[in-house]
Amino acid sequence: MKFPHQVVLITGASSGIGAELAVQLARMGCRLGLLARREELLKQVAERVEAAGGKACIAVCDVGDAAQVAEATRRVEAALGPIDCVVANAGMGWARKRLEFDAAATEQLVRTNFLGMTNAFFAALPVMLARKRGHLVAVASLAGYQGLPQDAGYAASKAAMRIHCEGMRIELRGTGIDVSTICPGFIRTPLTDRNEFDMPFLLEVEAATRKLVRAIGKRRRVYNYPWQLWWLIKLGMHTPRWLYDAILGGQGAKMQAGRTQKYSNGLDPRS
Ligand SMILES: NC(=O)c1ccc[n+]([C@@H]2O[C@H](COP(=O)([O-])OP(=O)(O)OC[C@H]3O[C@@H](n4cnc5c(N)ncnc54)[C@H](OP(=O)(O)O)[C@@H]3O)[C@@H](O)[C@H]2O)c1
Repeated sequence: MKFPHQVVLITGASSGIGAELAVQLARMGCRLGLLARREELLKQVAERVEAAGGKACIAVCDVGDAAQVAEATRRVEAALGPIDCVVANAGMGWARKRLEFDAAATEQLVRTNFLGMTNAFFAALPVMLARKRGHLVAVASLAGYQGLPQDAGYAASKAAMRIHCEGMRIELRGTGIDVSTICPGFIRTPLTDRNEFDMPFLLEVEAATRKLVRAIGKRRRVYNYPWQLWWLIKLGMHTPRWLYDAILGGQGAKMQAGRTQKYSNGLDPRS
């Protein structure tokens, strides 16, 4: 498949899906803007990108800070040229204990996952609108379709991404700018390494990212995968709430067994 974009900005490019996406797109000859907070890891991904035949520009920033993202986007444009595609992939999770609700951690989740996406999109949009072309891609999650015990904040942040993208997609009709929402199930990355429960239909990151690249290439409006988990989620959405609550309540107890409080990337969102 020929990938339709040349300059791609990826947020959350220092690990997991973002790092793998950068390397796969480099093999297709793309020039890549790589954003995240951990500079050392970004440098390593940039080396892999260059070794794979691509060109990389790294920009350290916190996606939750609109000014930092705008500055990073300008730096990428200056180094690589106008951005054809933004993949808003940066994200975090928080495996908290049952009944331990936390306002600061929830704010951090929403700031990173949801506002991190809008910050990246809005920074690139003016140039895309002027060029009358572009592609905005959000890496949301199948978790964003229903409420999940102990992951309510994560699921809500992903639902917000999905709904915001739907509105933008319709609003941007006729401007030459496409919007894609990607909703993966479980993928083996540092984000899911913390999970102590069974992850049904878990995908390896290389295979999962190949599917993501194909979906972007086809400019899919919404791409939910793997299909097996998507069908289970659809079944769940049509299940009476009393039954859904009972099933997920049991699942929540299983998830709780032996669970310790952990944060993806080892960063405590409340620090
Ligand atoms: N793995 C799965 O099963 C799965 C399933 C569905 C959706 N997703 C979504 O896929 C995306 C990538 O996740 P992953 O599985 O690849 O996890 P990961 O390996 O933990 O990667 C997360 C990336 O986001 C970056 N990030 C986190 N907070 C940031 C911030 N405040 N500012 C800038 N960058 C930040 C991290 O970089 P730094 O820490 O260096 O900043 C890292 O590069 C996330 O949005 C996640 O919700 C994952």
